[in-house]
Amino acid sequence: MDQTPTRTFQPHVTARTAAVWAVLRAELDRHAGRELAVLDVGGGTGGFAVPLAQAGHRVTVVDASPDALASLTRRAADAGVSDRVRAVQGDGDALAGLVEPGSADLILCHAVLEVVDDPAEVVRSVAGSLRPGGAVSVLVAGRAAAVLSRAVNGHLDQAAALLADPDGRAPGRDTLKRRYDVETAAALLRAAGLTVEQVHGVRVLVDLLPAAAVEADPATLLDLELAASAQAPFRDLAAQLHLFARRP
Ligand SMILES: C[S@@+](CC[C@H](N)C(=O)[O-])C[C@H]1O[C@@H](n2cnc3c(N)ncnc32)[C@H](O)[C@@H]1O
Repeated sequence: MDQTPTRTFQPHVTARTAAVWAVLRAELDRHAGRELAVLDVGGGTGGFAVPLAQAGHRVTVVDASPDALASLTRRAADAGVSDRVRAVQGDGDALAGLVEPGSADLILCHAVLEVVDDPAEVVRSVAGSLRPGGAVSVLVAGRAAAVLSRAVNGHLDQAAALLADPDGRAPGRDTLKRRYDVETAAALLRAAGLTVEQVHGVRVLVDLLPAAAVEADPATLLDLELAASAQAPFRDLAAQLHLFARRP
């Protein structure tokens, strides 16, 4: 199998991931021709790590779950990029003991800060792993979307409780420990010395549509998602908020 790294990669972009890939692609283009050291914290089964390795970069995935890392390893092998993907079991708040501090060009921390015990500690750990000038892509659960989705589904008590909860948590069995607004997420990154450069909404509309509408015209939906992702108030109502920040 040809394992020649390619810089013009085409990850499987859908309306659910388009806004994130657009930002990542611009960062990769900034460094065109360089093999980047990428760290994916809580990278799970490699939905982002493997395409980035296919694009010719070296990706280390740190994840707490051995099962997720086993799936990642299989996925990397299937894609022919095992030599570019390193799976490391560990905690996102202890990266200094797992990877060289100050070495990463690009760090992904997607759908993690809402499930860990101490998000500020994870963000500090991420900032310490970045080289000066390196960037971090952070994806967090949006609080406003969670309130709206409960309300439109008729769960008004849940919506009211989530709206009033300082952490944006729903009563009962909430799978997440917290949710974010643009300001609370940005403040978390700034507190670790990072400069927030871009904020986008992810899954602004796609989660609101019936499946048939999503499948009917994926290209138009993708363009609409991308347009809405950058514009308040749509951006702020997205299921996830994407923040792209840099270590000065
Ligand atoms: C919701 S999944 C997100 C996976 C992937 N980043 C994505 O966006 O598809 C959260 C991941 O974070 C991992 N995780 C949870 N707590 C962690 C921690 N303290 N340190 C490292 N990984 C953690 C989980 O094992 C899981 O793979």
